[in-house]
Amino acid sequence: MERSRGGAAPSSELFAFNQLRARKKELKFARSPIHDWGLYALEYIPAGDMVIEYVGEVVRQQVADKREKVYERQGIGSSYLFRIDDDLVVDATMKGNIGRLINHSCSPNCTARIITINSSKKIVIYAKTPIEPGEEITYDYHFPIEQEKIPCLCGSEKCRGFLN
Ligand SMILES: C[S@@+](CC[C@H](N)C(=O)[O-])C[C@H]1O[C@@H](n2cnc3c(N)ncnc32)[C@H](O)[C@@H]1O
Ligand SMILES: [Zn+2]
Repeated sequence: MERSRGGAAPSSELFAFNQLRARKKELKFARSPIHDWGLYALEYIPAGDMVIEYVGEVVRQQVADKREKVYERQGIGSSYLFRIDDDLVVDATMKGNIGRLINHSCSPNCTARIITINSSKKIVIYAKTPIEPGEEITYDYHFPIEQEKIPCLCGSEKCRGFLN
């Protein structure tokens, strides 16, 4: 489950968030050398721009824990659970957008941030570096360290070897 990095949105972020909803970035999903499917830019995205909202169903921690076990039993190999805070998790497994297809990289071109829009927490993916058309969109999942390790296949020179 991805870790949250939070903060209230200043008015410029609210404006940018509304802009993002009005005019979505041109993106596509396709097979990824990192893992299964990934998300790609179809247009140039300047550093600092919002790329996409990570949309899903907001559920309590306990619900997310139960669902995680069900998904594992069902053989869903990818985790689409993203932690917002100590109690809330966004589950994009069944209800989500293509933001859920963004893979992890240890040298990512994006970063995920939690912002509060009209009292509601949103996960927004921001460009960390300028992104060229055709580049895969990635961010650092910041998974907590666990005993059961997930090997990282991001392929970057600075790869930490594991997602968690
Ligand atoms: C939110 S999904 C990303 C989309 C995924 N590629 C797919 O096709 O559904 C997260 C899952 O993708 C896989 N994944 C993402 N980045 C990875 C990486 N750098 N190395 C290995 N597996 C990765 C892991 O299985 C993780 O649980
Ligand atoms: Zn890596």
